[in-house]
Amino acid sequence: MPIKACVFDAYGTLFDVAAAAREAAAEPGREQFASLWPKVANDWRLKQLQYTWLRAITDAHTDFWKVTQDGLDWALEASGLSDPELRERLLQLYWELSAYPEVPPMLKTLKDQGLATAILSNGSPDMLTGAVESAGIGDVLDDVLSVESVGIFKPDHTVYELVTQRFECARDEVLFVSSNGWDAAGAAGFGFTTVWVNRAGEPIDRLPWTPHHVLTDLTSIPDLARA
Ligand code: LAC
Repeated sequence: MPIKACVFDAYGTLFDVAAAAREAAAEPGREQFASLWPKVANDWRLKQLQYTWLRAITDAHTDFWKVTQDGLDWALEASGLSDPELRERLLQLYWELSAYPEVPPMLKTLKDQGLATAILSNGSPDMLTGAVESAGIGDVLDDVLSVESVGIFKPDHTVYELVTQRFECARDEVLFVSSNGWDAAGAAGFGFTTVWVNRAGEPIDRLPWTPHHVLTDLTSIPDLARA
């Protein structure tokens, strides 16, 4: 089936989640954090995601902002950092993450090709609004879909159903793009045509479902969507 809609995960896929810690580390007066930030960024992301999965399987949903703060608190403590001002700064930067450089022209090309474009994210609507505005990509997105409208995190299938409902299309008419291997796999299990954006050259996740395509960045998404 030809692709009708290209739908993107947000954090890690369109927006660089390591940017908050990297940018804070470069600020004056943060010499201690400058050596610790890669571990903090990694722990922060891992804990944030673990909390989404644990909350989904135990029916204990909260919004993504809460698990983002909880993950950061774990990561700061694990690195021996107790600095309320740094914590506030990292959280502030999370609202204005940079988009990867290829994102705006790639989305514009998809729109020029007549395809629908959207975000489907664990992010809460206000977090996503902040990120989309700071990246300046609102005018090349048809919609921003948040798990908050169904009250459970990915990879629950009710989340992926938001897309087929919104665009009134078959599952395999959706090209779903995620840098999270588990998200691309989960979406493939749902029936989307999927792309895993493996920027870091990681091994493939050992899960029952496999993404259809593996890329190293987003540049060739318009070619893939047209093929
Ligand atoms: C999201 C997370 C999983 O944006 O990156 O949904």
